Order: sequence, then C-alpha cells, then structure tokens
Amino acid sequence: MEGRGSSTGASYVRLVTRSDVVWAALALVLFTPLTVVSEDKDELPRFIEDVPNITVTVGRDALLPCTVEQLKGYKVAWVQVDTQTILTIHKQVITRNPRIALLHNDHRSWHLELKNVREKDRGWYMCQVNTDPMRSKQGYVDVVVPPDIIDRESSGDLTIREGQDVTLTCRAKGHPTPSIVWRREDNQDIVLDSDKADSGGTDTAHTVKSVEGETLVMKRVSRLQMGSYLCIASNGIPPSISKRTQLRVQFPPVAWVPQQLEGAYIGQELTIECHTEAFPKSINFWTNTNGDMVVSDERYEPIVTETSYKVYMKLRIRRVEKKDVGTFRCIAKNSLGETDGAIRIYEIEPPKSHSNGVFEMVEADGGSGEGSTPVPQNHLNKELKKYEDGRHPKGINDVTDAYQHPKNYDSKGPGHHTNPQRGLQQPSFGLSFGQSSAARPASPTPRLTLTASFLTAALLPLWLSCFLAAPLCW
Ligand SMILES: *[C@@H]1O[C@H](CO)[C@@H](O)[C@H](O)[C@H]1NC(C)=O
Repeated sequence: MEGRGSSTGASYVRLVTRSDVVWAALALVLFTPLTVVSEDKDELPRFIEDVPNITVTVGRDALLPCTVEQLKGYKVAWVQVDTQTILTIHKQVITRNPRIALLHNDHRSWHLELKNVREKDRGWYMCQVNTDPMRSKQGYVDVVVPPDIIDRESSGDLTIREGQDVTLTCRAKGHPTPSIVWRREDNQDIVLDSDKADSGGTDTAHTVKSVEGETLVMKRVSRLQMGSYLCIASNGIPPSISKRTQLRVQFPPVAWVPQQLEGAYIGQELTIECHTEAFPKSINFWTNTNGDMVVSDERYEPIVTETSYKVYMKLRIRRVEKKDVGTFRCIAKNSLGETDGAIRIYEIEPPKSHSNGVFEMVEADGGSGEGSTPVPQNHLNKELKKYEDGRHPKGINDVTDAYQHPKNYDSKGPGHHTNPQRGLQQPSFGLSFGQSSAARPASPTPRLTLTASFLTAALLPLWLSCFLAAPLCW
C-alpha cells in the first residue's frame, strides 16, 4: 500500500458530511508529509507489529492495535480503506461515527476501537504514518453474524391431501452464509418418496434422517409424514436457529376390524373392537344391529382411545341379548368422507356348567372380547398406507373394497366367504390374527379354561380368607 498517501488527498473530496470536509481540509494540512524531519532511515517511525486480521461477532467491540516507534513529529491516522474514510488523525477522531474511538498512549500506541460492530464495518482498516512516502499497515475486520431465518421467505404450517407432493422452503441469512438442515422434530426418518420407500423396504435413498438445503421435497406424502419439521440454520456462529413447520396430511377415514366374527352366547360379556384412522379428526361411534347409534348405558360401554390420527374403539356389551345377534358397525366420519367396519355377532351355545362352579364365575366377568389380539401399530400403518383416494372415491367401505382386491382376497373356510378375515390376507399379521380368528369361533373353551384356572389360583385364597374373616369382604 505504499504510495497510497498521495491518493488520500483526493479521497477527502468524497467525504460527505460538512464537518468531515472541515476536518479533511485540516487533515490536508496536518497530514502533508513533513519534509523537515531528518531523512535518516533509522530515525523514521516504524511499526512494531502488523495490524492483525480480526473476526468479531456483530454487536461486540473490536480493537485494532497499531504501535509505532520513533514517531516524533509525524502523525498516525486510521483510514477505512473500502469507503476511503478517514477515521482518526493524530489524537482526534475525525469521523462522526460515535461507535469509533481512539485509544492512544505514550505517543506509541494508536489503537482503533470499533464499538457495537455492525455488518457495514466489515473491511480493511489501515493505520498510516505521514512519512514520505507514507508508511502503513492494514488489517481486515470480519464481522460475523449468527444465522437468522427469514420468516416471510420460509414455509409456514401446511395442510395437504394424502398423496400430494410437498415442498418446504427455509431461507436464512447470516455471515458466513448459513447452511440449512431439515429434520423431523420427533427424530423419525424423513420419507422423500412414500411410494419408493414403501416398495423398497429399507431403501435408504428415499428414507433419510436429515436433508441439507433450503428446500425439502417430499413426494406422494402419506399420513406417516404428518408431524413437525425443523429447518436448522447454522454457520458456525452461535447460536444456531431453527424454525418449526407443521405438516398436516388429510385423508378420509379408514376402518379396520381385527375380529369380524364374534360368537357369543346370551348373557355373556363381549367386547368388540375397531381401529380407525382419519385426518381431520373423525367423529366415531357404534351402531347396533338395528343401525341405531349405540349410547352408553348399563349394558353398553363404548371406550375410545385416540393417538394422533388413530382411534381405537371398543364396545363392551355387558350381557349379550338376542337383539345383539346381528351386525354392529363402528363408524368414522370426517369432512372428507365416512367409513365403517362391520362386526357380526352370532349366537353360540352356552358352555356346559362345570362341577366346581368356578367356571361360571369366570364367564360372568371374564371378558371374552379379550381374545382378539391388539393390532401391531406399524403393521396397521403399512396396511392403511396403501389406501389411496383414487381407489376409494367415496371414502366409504374402504375395508370391504380392499378385501375384494383380487390379489388380497383369500377365501379360506366357509365363514370367510361372506365375512373374510382381514388378518388372513397379509403375511405380516396373518399369523397373529389368523390364529386367533380361526381358533375362536370353533373352540373358545381352551382359552377360557386357562383363564378359569388362573383365576381360581388367584381368587381361591381370597375366598378362603373371606370365610375366615367375613367382614373383610362385605
Ligand atoms: C491478513 O489477511 C491477508 C489476506 O487475507 C494476509 O495477506 C495478511 O498477511 C493477514 N495479516 C495478518 C496480520 O495476518
């Protein structure tokens, strides 16, 4: 930067504020090379060290040291190189920028202080001495800025229909330029293409933990992709920042009945169950054999368990009556459609009474509905995921439609023609449901016997103690 001194004069003209112009004129006078001083090289001022390059976070203070030996009558000035602004001359701060100060001491140290640094302060700063030719050192001030997400250029919460593609966008500013990573808030994998991820099984290309970049594109979004997505912007300057985007996936209700045939005898207790999925949230209820809505009373107890878009419905019939023989339905309705699942209750002979009498007791409150195996949730997910709007234009009777699909239909046993067991068609839960449904109507006795002996073992001591100390029990 030797020889820059001569051009410094010209740059004064560009200074804008009036008082700067005054100072500039003064500076011309003050800063004209002093030829009267001895030209002996050893006697000339010299810098003890370089002006360092520094990195400072926006909002902090920065100190640029400049130490000169043998300054004598010469003067030190600080110049902001990019804007050609004179900041200080000798002990005077020239610029009107109140954030700039000069810390001088001993006629040796001339440190420039930048307070509350802003992004526009980034650039080269030169410490110069008015020798002829001018002597100078310069250092770079890098102003780093932690990342910030530009809200209006980033996606907000989004509601789409199942099967649609979705693009989430997230833009961030900061210095250096932040990088962006997408993650699911619940830390589950992001599915980039539901179709391919499904067919490929563990296809890692379509199922990832995180995605880098401003946009997150997901193809044929399924209900499993419903949830919160985080875009995280970071550039090495703490703190990193994230924005949460809620993705809602709408679909008409689907219902699934694990046990479509229930054998029951008059007077027994029976629990029937049904799983539904829907978003927006559905209205769920049961209808009885007349098609009327079942209301909770001393004989019927509807039990509903909800988790996100899934509803697990149970109907406990405390004492089965003749009029319960027939078809009960679980109904799910939302704004996109309606569906139902049918459960046919048929009458069976009451079991023969046993000599020990314990068996009847078990029958009375032994809950014969317990026999149906609960649905493994992920299997249900996989299964229900296959439901496409196209296949179910009305969103009604989805389950029945699926059974009639030639590939899936499996007609085993006489009872399955009219009321095929869903559990039989899928290898994934064919085992659990196939067994329980096949075994139940034919021979409910082994399971009940098991329960009976268990209860006998558990209850016998209680009964005994009641005989010994009757007030405890009554
Ligand atoms: C400052 O950085 C420049 C290039 O970026 C380099 O040439 C110079 O040597 C650095 N100064 C110091 C004091 O490290």
